[in-house]
Amino acid sequence: MYSFLLFLGFGIVSQQFNFNKQEARVDGTFLCRQKPIPENTTVTIWDDAIIADDKLNATWTRKDGSFRIYGREFVFFSFKPFIAVRHRCGQRPKLCKYETRIWFPSSNYGEGVVHHLGIIQLERLRNNETVTIIEFCS
Ligand SMILES: *[C@@H]1O[C@H](CO)[C@@H](O)[C@H](O)[C@H]1NC(C)=O
Ligand SMILES: *[C@@H]1O[C@H](CO)[C@@H](O)[C@H](O)[C@H]1NC(C)=O
Ligand SMILES: *[C@@H]1O[C@H](CO)[C@@H](O)[C@H](O)[C@H]1NC(C)=O
Repeated sequence: MYSFLLFLGFGIVSQQFNFNKQEARVDGTFLCRQKPIPENTTVTIWDDAIIADDKLNATWTRKDGSFRIYGREFVFFSFKPFIAVRHRCGQRPKLCKYETRIWFPSSNYGEGVVHHLGIIQLERLRNNETVTIIEFCS
C-alpha cells in the first residue's frame, strides 16, 4: 500500500517536472593506426550536465578494441550523453595522454536503440560538434 502511494506520488512528481528515464546504448571499436587500442582500456558513459557531468557507467575494451556500453539516468531537462576514453593515440609525442569524448543522440527508454559508432581511428579524430579531444602533455 505504502509503496503504491509512493509510486503514485512519484508518478505525479515525475509528470509535473518531466522527470524522464533516458538511456543510451553505444558500441564501436577503437583503433590506433589500424591496431586495436590496449585491451581493457576503460570506456565511460556520461551525461553532459550543467553543473557536473554525471558518470553513468563504465566498461573495458576487448582484444580487438571493441566495446559496448549502456547508461541510463532520470533527467529533469535534457539528456546529452557522451562516451569518454583515455588513451595515448594522437598526433603529438608519446608523452601526451588524451581523453576523447564523443557525443551521440540519446534515445528514450524502451526503444532499445543502439548507436553504432563503428570503427573509430582515434589518431584521425579532430575537434568538432560531436568530438572533443582533451590533451594532457607533461
Ligand atoms: C582484461 O581483463 C580481463 C578480465 O578482467 C582479464 O581476464 C584479462 O587478463 C585482462 N587483459 C589484459 C591484457 O589485461
Ligand atoms: C551498466 O552496464 C551494465 C552492462 O550493460 C548494465 O547491466 C548495468 O545495468 C549498467 N548500470 C547502469 C547504472 O546503468
Ligand atoms: C566530427 O568528426 C567525426 C569523426 O571524425 C565525424 O564522424 C563527424 O561527422 C564530424 N561531425 C561534424 C559535425 O563535422
